[in-house]
Amino acid sequence: MLDAKVAELLNAQVNKEFYSAYLYLDFSNFYTDNGLEGFANWYKIQAQEERDHALLFMKYLQNNGHKVTLDAIDKPDKELKELADPLHGGYEHEQLVTSLIHSIYEAADNVKDFRTMQFLDWFVKEQGEEETNAEGLIKKYDLFGSDPRALYMLDNELGGRVYSAPSLVL
Ligand code: FEO
Repeated sequence: MLDAKVAELLNAQVNKEFYSAYLYLDFSNFYTDNGLEGFANWYKIQAQEERDHALLFMKYLQNNGHKVTLDAIDKPDKELKELADPLHGGYEHEQLVTSLIHSIYEAADNVKDFRTMQFLDWFVKEQGEEETNAEGLIKKYDLFGSDPRALYMLDNELGGRVYSAPSLVL
């Protein structure tokens, strides 16, 4: 059995990951409304990845004999006005998610729950990649966003992102 605090945090993370998916769908819709289908595609796939993360947390709880409680998902709360707003919002959000994953890791470490720590290792690495990607998008936009032709090419590049299932299998 999992420690009660660890199980509570893992269950809360299911909600956070679904919220991430919801937030990124909001970003995707914002870009569709602004005619940037490549950016919209990038965030739609990001939303699919977040849903996968939620399912992985659910499966881990179930594999350890815990019932999953699904709570209401908050409304996306980032104000989107400028084209760069989702990029900054996404980076900020990934930093928050990293801190949440680290908090669960810390709780597992406190009770010597090595199994959960090993499960979370994949997410620790994933968060590093997600922060790098989110920061990279900001850098690209800062470089090319003000030139319509370069923005068109960047949009095309982001439109090429395809979904792939997570490498973590439980
Ligand atoms: Fe599930 Fe973007 O972290």
